[in-house]
Amino acid sequence: MTRRDFYTYGTMVLGGLMSAALAVPGVAYLLDPLGKRRGSARVYPLAKLSELEVGIPRSFQIVDERQDAWVNYPKEPIGTVWLVRQAPGSADPVIAFQAECPHLGCAVNLAPEKNAFRCPCHNSSFTLSGTPGNKIPPRGMDRLDVEATGPPQDPTIRVKFERFRSQSERKIPLA
Ligand code: FES
Repeated sequence: MTRRDFYTYGTMVLGGLMSAALAVPGVAYLLDPLGKRRGSARVYPLAKLSELEVGIPRSFQIVDERQDAWVNYPKEPIGTVWLVRQAPGSADPVIAFQAECPHLGCAVNLAPEKNAFRCPCHNSSFTLSGTPGNKIPPRGMDRLDVEATGPPQDPTIRVKFERFRSQSERKIPLA
């Protein structure tokens, strides 16, 4: 091998090693967020029991930081939950529903007569216990887990906020 060849090969090898050293962390940086679990469920305190009237649904916004693959956003509304206080003696003092319609994800509202939930997008309707009132939604409103913590006479109602796949007959949590 001539001295010229030696320098040519040496430069190529060195260049390849330096490129690899720069490329590996770059690729790892780009792929890293894809491996992270996003949108996992969290529990939010929403109301005291005394703030809810039996049988009258009340909506609560969930406010939190949001994160997508590469960006952290400041706190903002990320969803809505409906709480329905049950009659005294019921197994669950409060029932919570995800406000996203299981049909295509629009926000479900309370009907003007306050005796049912309605979705304005394609007219899905639900009873106050979340059962479908017509054949439009593929399943009932998605119930969320509720915890009552604090003094038994007026506990704080905490809700595990999750999202579920729309257009499915089964309630499938989104990761
Ligand atoms: S999204 Fe609610 S009825 Fe279609």
